[in-house]
Amino acid sequence: MTGLIYAPTNDYRPLKLIGEGGTATVYAAENNITKQKYAIKCIKFRNKSEKSSDKVFQNEINILKSIDHPNVAALHEYFTGPQHHFLVMEFAEGGDLLDDLQKRGRYSEEHAKSFAIEIMRAVRYCHDRNIVHRDLKPENILIDKFGCAKLADFGLSKRIQKPNSLTTRCGTLIYMAPEILDHDTYGKAVDIWSSGIIIFIMLAGYHPFAHESQDASREMIRKGKLCLYPSYWDDKSAEAISLIKDMICVCPSQRITANESLKSSWLGSSDQFVAKKVNFLNPFNYFSVKVSMEMKKEPFQQLRSRVICV
Ligand SMILES: Nc1ncnc2c1ncn2[C@@H]1O[C@H](COP(=O)(O)OP(=O)(O)O)[C@@H](O)[C@H]1O
Ligand SMILES: [Mg+2]
Repeated sequence: MTGLIYAPTNDYRPLKLIGEGGTATVYAAENNITKQKYAIKCIKFRNKSEKSSDKVFQNEINILKSIDHPNVAALHEYFTGPQHHFLVMEFAEGGDLLDDLQKRGRYSEEHAKSFAIEIMRAVRYCHDRNIVHRDLKPENILIDKFGCAKLADFGLSKRIQKPNSLTTRCGTLIYMAPEILDHDTYGKAVDIWSSGIIIFIMLAGYHPFAHESQDASREMIRKGKLCLYPSYWDDKSAEAISLIKDMICVCPSQRITANESLKSSWLGSSDQFVAKKVNFLNPFNYFSVKVSMEMKKEPFQQLRSRVICV
């Protein structure tokens, strides 16, 4: 694999392929001098002459350079080769949330809560700086070696000048807020909708709006009706369910904000949960709840979904 990644400084040795998304291929790599491990996101030029992937790359680095938060995967450096742009990122050794959920089926309420707190802290940090992520989904949430969530993939993110001033219909259908589907102008609230869906999946192990027909998914999103099957939800707290309903709320002006979500009765008492993360790498300490075999069969295979941008 050596040689696949071109760096002007020859600083990095590629180790293995760790991820593929809609725009990029991501390798684990080691810095030859410091031996520090990084994730290198390689964005191939779509059209060699025009370098049309420039926009995605420039957008992502401009946003990442301006932010610094413990729950956002940090940009270390970036460069451009003959066929690719490269982003050298902090390496999240635990992979992404979708892979982890596929392995484990769903999380205990306590564990979902600690991820939810970290995700919403990152979202609040971005929203305070008027950055809307626009593609929040489990594939774009990474897990570091301490088991902490890190927001990644700012390729579609946008810094807004005025509230609700976005119009581009983009994101990933089953995480997309209804106001994007309906061609309305939109803003930060779209990230809250997607975060609510991520929290729903972490707790239940199934997606509220996934359907083999995209039209059916669109209809379900527009109605925003959540099917809370008793066998999946009976053991969940009223506080968790209430927050999810406040996040997956069809009317964006009535949707809870990131800051309010962190003060909600479910996430409000946050500090104790962060302290528990140190044992992540010991699998015997990681989960307090056994995942039932029934949950392990849940069909996440269809969920690694493509970004739509029109
Ligand atoms: N810093 C990282 N550490 C570990 N894995 C990563 C990292 N960045 C990305 N990945 C993996 O690579 C996948 C694709 O990366 P992403 O930035 O989402 O690219 P795309 O823009 O193509 O969706 C992610 O879903 C994740 O599995
Ligand atoms: Mg992605």
